[in-house]
Amino acid sequence: MKDAPTRDTIVAFLGDIFERCGGEEYLGEPVTMAEHMLQGATIAEQQGLSEDIIVAALLHDIGHFTSEFGTFAMDDTEDRFHEEAGAKVLEAFFPTLITDCVRYHVAAKRYLCATKPEYFERLSEASIHSLNLQGGPMNAEEVTDFAKNPNLARIIQVRYLDEAGKHPDMQTPDFWHFAPMVQRIVDKHLEPQTGA
Ligand SMILES: [Fe+2]
Repeated sequence: MKDAPTRDTIVAFLGDIFERCGGEEYLGEPVTMAEHMLQGATIAEQQGLSEDIIVAALLHDIGHFTSEFGTFAMDDTEDRFHEEAGAKVLEAFFPTLITDCVRYHVAAKRYLCATKPEYFERLSEASIHSLNLQGGPMNAEEVTDFAKNPNLARIIQVRYLDEAGKHPDMQTPDFWHFAPMVQRIVDKHLEPQTGA
């Protein structure tokens, strides 16, 4: 088993996951897992969105590969919990804004299905199928609770990027294009707080 990542190795560690595992099929979609995440990040960059959002889109499905994180591995890495597993492994290095976007990207789909009827129209067939396994649209109480998250707007933004990143023939840069951005966010998050 590989050593658990550190601040200095996390970016290379993530890049290695993209390179070795990214070719895996994204079940029911016309893209691989890496293409899917790179497309979301590329669209975010093209739209001029913040680095936080670009990196959140880039890493939102990393939970599919948590067994790669060695000692960070969750007991349950089944697909239906990939969003929680992904947030858990990223927590040591990334701010809550990003881990919330990862943790709640499935809940955001359930939220949007309950609150925006037109959103359902953009879901792929595979996404509709998994929606049903994930509990279907939120009920009113769940919607109220979910809307309390201070990062709601960002979470929704990343959810739309998730939906957008399913083009069979979109060209994107590879992970290393985004690596400096990822490192900047890690460094900013982990740097010791210096006086006010
Ligand atoms: Fe996704």
